[in-house]
Amino acid sequence: MLDVKKLLLEDARLVEGMLEECYADSDEDISLILDAEKYSLFAGGKRIRPFLVIEFCRLFGGRVESALPFAAAIEMIHTSSLIHDDLPCMDDDDLRRGRPTNHVVFGYANALLAGDALLMRAFETAAIAEVSSDGVRSAVAALAASAGDFGMIGGQIMDINNAVREDSPIEKLKKLHAKKTGALIRCSALLGCIAAGLEWSDERTQAAVKYAENIGLAFQIIDDILDVCGDEAKLGKPIGSDKEQGKVTFISYYSIDEARCEAKKLTDEAISAISAFEGAEALTLLAEYLLNRDH
Ligand code: IPE
Ligand code: IPE
Ligand code: MG
Ligand code: MG
Ligand code: MG
Repeated sequence: MLDVKKLLLEDARLVEGMLEECYADSDEDISLILDAEKYSLFAGGKRIRPFLVIEFCRLFGGRVESALPFAAAIEMIHTSSLIHDDLPCMDDDDLRRGRPTNHVVFGYANALLAGDALLMRAFETAAIAEVSSDGVRSAVAALAASAGDFGMIGGQIMDINNAVREDSPIEKLKKLHAKKTGALIRCSALLGCIAAGLEWSDERTQAAVKYAENIGLAFQIIDDILDVCGDEAKLGKPIGSDKEQGKVTFISYYSIDEARCEAKKLTDEAISAISAFEGAEALTLLAEYLLNRDH
């Protein structure tokens, strides 16, 4: 049986190699921002999104080398979103990936710019992927849409402006989660398909997207649970942040056990979406691993 932790580490090494190449150039006059970007980018992190890019590319017969620029790009966007998410104007958190947050070390303005620069670097990196021109065009459009106002940023806007209230229907919270966290996870699976040369209309792409939509929602449900009953040392980020900010989360609607049950249902849906494909074991194990994670 495959060892998913080992696979995660192997794929993390691959994408980290690509990220290091992207940040090989130095310039003394801008070393402050390069250091700030690298501080958060190379602080660990589970590298779930790059794993999805690489493994969907592999599953559908693509070359890992084609997937790596996309894997690096999505991790840069994700890291940028974390730097901004922790800022005093947003969640105001001081611990991330087991380290003081970017703004605590580099200051608010520099952290803001480091997040912006990572976002720009992501598009530069995706644009040089060795796939067809149509593939690059689709990938860049998918990255922009998933990170933008109808994607992750839209979710963050709903989140920080309390668009979901105690009496809102649960569907509204699911919508927020699908945008805030789900959009980049969905995009990761799609990028893997694009790297393997698949079209949007291909049934394999549709299956990958269905898998990712389900694990994406499960992922944020588990994140909400861990904010209540996780271990800060294992998580590498503060617990109780949602409550402190008065956020409505899955735990506002469900008990911990019910929320876990909901995440399990979504995980099962995800697994069944890809079960027909030979070689889907790594992605099946990932879905289970994310359901049972403690960090
Ligand atoms: C944290 O994402 C932010 C959410 C979307 C909940 P991860 O849990 O993937 O964070 P890292 O990359 O492992 O630090
Ligand atoms: C933020 O969600 C996800 C993004 C960064 C877009 P959270 O605010 O719940 O993430 P954590 O718990 O700080 O990682
Ligand atoms: Mg937040
Ligand atoms: Mg946060
Ligand atoms: Mg959270």
